[in-house]
Amino acid sequence: MLDENIAGLLNQQINKELYSAYLYLDFSNYYYDEGLDGFGNWYKIQAEEERDHAMLILKYMQNNGEKAVLEAIDKPNVEITSHKSVLLAGLKHEQFVTGLIHTIYEAAHSVKDFRTMQFLDWFVKEQGEEENNAETLLKKYELFGDDPKSLYMLDNELGTRVYSAPSLVL
Ligand code: FEO
Repeated sequence: MLDENIAGLLNQQINKELYSAYLYLDFSNYYYDEGLDGFGNWYKIQAEEERDHAMLILKYMQNNGEKAVLEAIDKPNVEITSHKSVLLAGLKHEQFVTGLIHTIYEAAHSVKDFRTMQFLDWFVKEQGEEENNAETLLKKYELFGDDPKSLYMLDNELGTRVYSAPSLVL
């Protein structure tokens, strides 16, 4: 069994990760509609990764004798005003999620829950990568997004992203 507060935070994080998946699916849907299928593909895969994050936390709770409670997932709340606004929102969202992961880590540390800290180590690293990916994408858009030919090539590049299962196995 886990500390009650830790279990609650992990439970909440399942919802946040599923919300992230839902949000990125919304981004993907937007780009497909705009004819930018590569960007659409990139965010579709991002959505799949977020679902994986939720599943990993759910499994961790189950492995520790905790039954997660699945709550309603909010409607995506980002107002999309341009191609670039999505990328900015994506970066901001990842920074927000990093903060959530750090909060759980801090709580685990305060009750000497070393097992949960070790579990979260993967997420801490993953958030670093996700923020970096979002920043890189934004930078590329800023460099090339205004030129149709360059945008076409960038879109093609993003279309090559393929899904791979998370490296963490529980
Ligand atoms: Fe699961 Fe992108 O945070």
